[in-house]
Order: sequence, then C-alpha cells, then structure tokens
Amino acid sequence: MTDLEAIRARHSVRSYLEKPIPPELRRELDACVETCNRESGLHLRVIYDDPAGYDSFLTHYGVFRNVKNYIVLAGKKEDDFDFRCGYYGEKLVLLAQKLGLNTCWTALTFNKKRVRELIPEGESLCMAIALGYGENQGRQHRSKRPERVSELAGEAPDWFRDGLEAALLAPTAVNQQKFCFGLENGEATVRVKGIGSYTRVDLGIAALHFELGSGRKVKALE
Ligand SMILES: Cc1cc2nc3c(=O)[nH]c(=O)nc-3n(C[C@H](O)[C@H](O)[C@H](O)COP(=O)(O)O)c2cc1C
Repeated sequence: MTDLEAIRARHSVRSYLEKPIPPELRRELDACVETCNRESGLHLRVIYDDPAGYDSFLTHYGVFRNVKNYIVLAGKKEDDFDFRCGYYGEKLVLLAQKLGLNTCWTALTFNKKRVRELIPEGESLCMAIALGYGENQGRQHRSKRPERVSELAGEAPDWFRDGLEAALLAPTAVNQQKFCFGLENGEATVRVKGIGSYTRVDLGIAALHFELGSGRKVKALE
C-alpha cells in the first residue's frame, strides 16, 4: 500500500477486535517511533496490551470499544509541540494503516490519568491515538470544498491541487478542517483559519497529508 492509498483508506475506527498486534508489526511500529523521535525531538511511544488507557467514563460515552493498544504523543513542550505531534503522530497512523491496522486520534476520549502515569517528569502529554484491528474500516468524513481551505491569487498548479485533496482526507478534531493552504514565492504554506480546539495538531496532520499528496514541503505559518 502506498502513502496515498493509506490516506484514502484511513478513517477513524472506535471499535476493535480482541486480536493482538503480532510481534513483526510491533517491530515495524517501534522502528518508526524511533525514527520519528530522532527527527522530531518528541517522545512518542506505542503501548501494547493495556486496556486501562481507554477505560474511562468518556471512552464509553464516546463509543470506544475494546481499545487495547495506543500511541502516546508526548515530549518537552517547546517549538510548536502541537504541530510536531500532529505531523509525526500521523506518520504512525499511516504506517498502521499500511500494516492493516486501524486508528483514531483522541484529544479527550481516553483515560488521561492512566496515560499521564506513563509520561516522564518534565514532559507533557499532547494526546493519544487508539490502535488495533478494527471491527470495521470506519467511513469517509464529510469534507469542505478545496476553495474553502486555500487562498491563491491565480490558478492552482496540479501538485497544489493534489496536496489539497490529500489534506482534505486528513483527520481533524470534530472534523473541523480549520486550515488554509497558500503559495508564497512558489512554496506551499499552511496556517490555521478560524477558531477551534487542537487546531495546531490538526495543522501538523494536514501538512503531512499535503506533502505526501503534492510531493512538496509545506511551511507552517504562525
Ligand atoms: C486532533 C484530533 C483530536 C480528536 N479527538 C477525538 C476524541 O477525543 N474523540 C473521538 O471520538 N474522536 C476524536 N478525533 C477524531 C475525529 O472526530 C475524526 O478524525 C474526524 O471526525 C474525521 O473523521 P475521520 O478521521 O474518519 O476522517 C480527533 C481527531 C483529531 C485529529
């Protein structure tokens, strides 16, 4: 499965099967975590076989079922921490999709008390991502039109349109899609558009999708 195929196949999944993640897949996920941590300075981790991480009142309310594995997004809170958590967390999400697993980003609906116990002193918890074999593959979210998430003076080049298409398939908190892509001297930019929660995390996720869709780097604006 290519990156783009993974982007198209991925949807949030909130109910999981009992099936454990096999050792060879754990090795691939852990290797990717190591690379992401080296590049980003973050402290991402995959926690396996720990149902306590998603055992809380909120997870039942939010219809999560049988989450036994999850990705913890944490690190020192500096230099656009939220954006980096979004960008590198989504790298893991897309790898999981390629490995036949499913995911769901969670800012709220997990057991924060339990997950905070896993974070070393001096580091902050951004959020977590549920991981495992889904009971289903989720479904396509409703999406804004490309012109609502871009600002260009003229006609968009093909690579820019491809990038936007991939960004619109990205997960965002409550499906808010509060981002806007532009072009500055031939270079793609992205910024938050409007007010919402977790918009900088969303921005990192959308930037990664845009880069994979367009084959170009994206500069995040304040
Ligand atoms: C930063 C972020 C936080 C999220 N937090 C939650 C959450 O707390 N609970 C939940 O059920 N879904 C959460 N989601 C999942 C979104 O609702 C979902 O990504 C969005 O509706 C789009 O659907 P899709 O992921 O299937 O494309 C979150 C997504 C993101 C990106």
